[in-house]
Order: sequence, then structure tokens, then C-alpha cells
Amino acid sequence: MIRVTRVYRLAASHRLHAPQLGEEENRALYGKCNNPFGHGHNYRLEISARGPLDDSGRALDPAALDRLVEETVLRPFGHRNLNSEVARFAQEVPTTENFGREIYRRLKDRWASVFPGPWPALEKVRIAETERNIFEVAEI
Ligand code: NI
Repeated sequence: MIRVTRVYRLAASHRLHAPQLGEEENRALYGKCNNPFGHGHNYRLEISARGPLDDSGRALDPAALDRLVEETVLRPFGHRNLNSEVARFAQEVPTTENFGREIYRRLKDRWASVFPGPWPALEKVRIAETERNIFEVAEI
């Protein structure tokens, strides 16, 4: 069994703000990340899958994964304001934890249409919002 990881870059902006809480509570909870005008991140995204080798000597067709990631993640989220342009984040705070879960969920939903067999299986989404803040999602 081989684990394959591909790396992608994704720029987007967000503001950490819980709609059910007041302004002061939000400021206390999220600090500078609650700035009303938001801020951007150059997210580094690592997508890992695993499986046995196929006849081509590969565990995964990287071009097929790239197409899936482009359609499911990079195009809908790239250079977007996550709060106002992604329906889920009108209700849910777009922390990078939640963003990673949304990416994982979308990949999982479409995975079988691109990789119909038992392998390769989606294993993990790893998302870094900065060099020091890194989150991993392996199931929802
Ligand atoms: Ni942030």
C-alpha cells in the first residue's frame, strides 16, 4: 500500500466571527482574527490518498486528482471571501478547522465519480493557514 500526497496552494480571505455571538464576545474570542474587514491567507493544502499500485506503477492518477481538486476546491474557494461567498460559512465560522472539514467533505462527496473502485481511497486533508497553524482532517 502506498500513500500519495499532493500539494496545492489556495488564497482566500475570512473573518472569524460567530453570528450567534455579540460584537464584544466575538472580539474577546477571536482577537485580531475578528477584524471586521477580514484578512487573507495563502493556504497550503495537502491531499493524501492511499492504495495499491496499478498497472501503470502508480497508486493514483495525479492528473485525475488535480482535476477533482480544481473543480471541487480551487475554483470554488480560490480568491474568495469565505464568509460571504461560501454558503456554509454564512452560518458556520470559517476557522481553518471548519474550512478543512468543508474541503474534505466536498472531496469525499465527489471522490467515487473520479475514482470509482475501492482504491485509491481519500485518506486525509492537511491544511496550513500559516507555517505554525496546521490542521488535519481524516474524517468528518
Ligand atoms: Ni485567519
